[in-house]
Amino acid sequence: MDKLNSPRPPERRSAANKPGVNVEARSGDARPPYMGFGLGLRPQHYLEILNGDPPVDWFEAISENYMVRGGQPLAMLEKIRERYPIVLHGVSLSIASTTPLNETYLADLKALADRFDPAFVSDHLCWTGVHGVNLHDLLPIPYTREALDHVVARIQRVQDTIKRPIAIENVSTYVQFQHSEMPEWEFVREMLVRAGCWLIFDVNNVFVSAFNHEFDPLDYINAIPADRVVQFHLAGHEHNMTHIVDTHDAIVCDEVWELYRAAVARFGQVSTIIERDDNIPPLTELVDELSKARAMAAEVLKAAPKGRSRRAS
Ligand SMILES: [Fe+2]
Repeated sequence: MDKLNSPRPPERRSAANKPGVNVEARSGDARPPYMGFGLGLRPQHYLEILNGDPPVDWFEAISENYMVRGGQPLAMLEKIRERYPIVLHGVSLSIASTTPLNETYLADLKALADRFDPAFVSDHLCWTGVHGVNLHDLLPIPYTREALDHVVARIQRVQDTIKRPIAIENVSTYVQFQHSEMPEWEFVREMLVRAGCWLIFDVNNVFVSAFNHEFDPLDYINAIPADRVVQFHLAGHEHNMTHIVDTHDAIVCDEVWELYRAAVARFGQVSTIIERDDNIPPLTELVDELSKARAMAAEVLKAAPKGRSRRAS
């Protein structure tokens, strides 16, 4: 067991955190390491991170921002990677699209992952375009057997191509399909088991979809195999009373914090980040919000029955 797998938050800036050292060798189905409490990496914070020594355990970098041949973003990520573990989180894989997978994109993603050795690579359960047109949105899919077969095959193809397991994140949605044959959580559970991939459980996204589609978010939490969850996302949204829009531009609300408690109680110790995509505040504000997640998770895990402190079975 290395440092990142210990129950304590991982220490930063040690030799064990240098690229190629801090991440466990991935063989077969090896679970990605527990990383502690991180933040989504945003360009507005590059200098604060490098100059300010913020108490953040790791960063989640948006893959597409660094799938380039040079320039400042890559240089910044190189410097940050020397000091912090990272994961790569994509928004353009379009795993559920009926358009063939983009081979150039996959090659670039593999090159980026090989260069930065992230703890894992992830993207979303959605489609983002067809026929070469990127719609720049995370669009919903029908939860059918046909779609499940399609998504599972494509996840396996991606994992074979980039030579590492990937994590898939649930997205927030605003419409449902009459053709759906199962609830989202059943689709996700089947996907995880059949594709052998991991799950980023976005707590806010589940809350948003649960409100918009009037389901109980605890049904979602209880249906997911706990050993497949490798990361929690926490974020803010815009509540319009009749519906919620997933804006990722505000603090985490009380209801989502409560759902986070339930998720930690069910899934155990899982790497967690705060995501802010718009209305980006100073880094210190996000660090403060992250402290709340850290304290809340510790409180829930302390109260958990013995044997569930790291991860539920
Ligand atoms: Fe997310």
